[in-house]
Amino acid sequence: MKKTIYVLNGPNLNLLGQRQPEIYGAETLADVESACAQVVADLGLQMRFEQTNSEAILVDLIQEARTQADAIVINPAAYSHTSVAILDALKAFDGPVLEVHISNIHQRESFRHHSYVSLRADGVIAGCGTQGYSLALHRVANLLA
Ligand code: DQA
Repeated sequence: MKKTIYVLNGPNLNLLGQRQPEIYGAETLADVESACAQVVADLGLQMRFEQTNSEAILVDLIQEARTQADAIVINPAAYSHTSVAILDALKAFDGPVLEVHISNIHQRESFRHHSYVSLRADGVIAGCGTQGYSLALHRVANLLA
């Protein structure tokens, strides 16, 4: 049975490619999803890829991952900096959690320097562009091996 990775994306990432391309690049979320699908297939894993603008739905997806997923790769977007609820949900998940930020949050406004999610994440990738998802998936595969 292939191990399952939940790849979760928070608010405004649906606008990837249109939103501040000077920061987030030209690739769309659909491009990111197909790149992740290729990496996951190469690693012999399977994934569910989701994006939501809702904090509640992200919490629900993380809770669902407790029984449906072996690992989580998450770009919580703005909720990284605000959401104790997402942190608590991730703390209730037993497998590896990798946090991804497309931009280098430490080079940006000071309110982006702190991430609640980092308190739970087993690894954090920031500033590697959309390639960060692929790096996170490779790390997850190592942690699950
Ligand atoms: C982001 C960084 C966050 O600060 C921001 O709110 C986002 C995207 C990133 O991928 O670089 O929406 O998580």
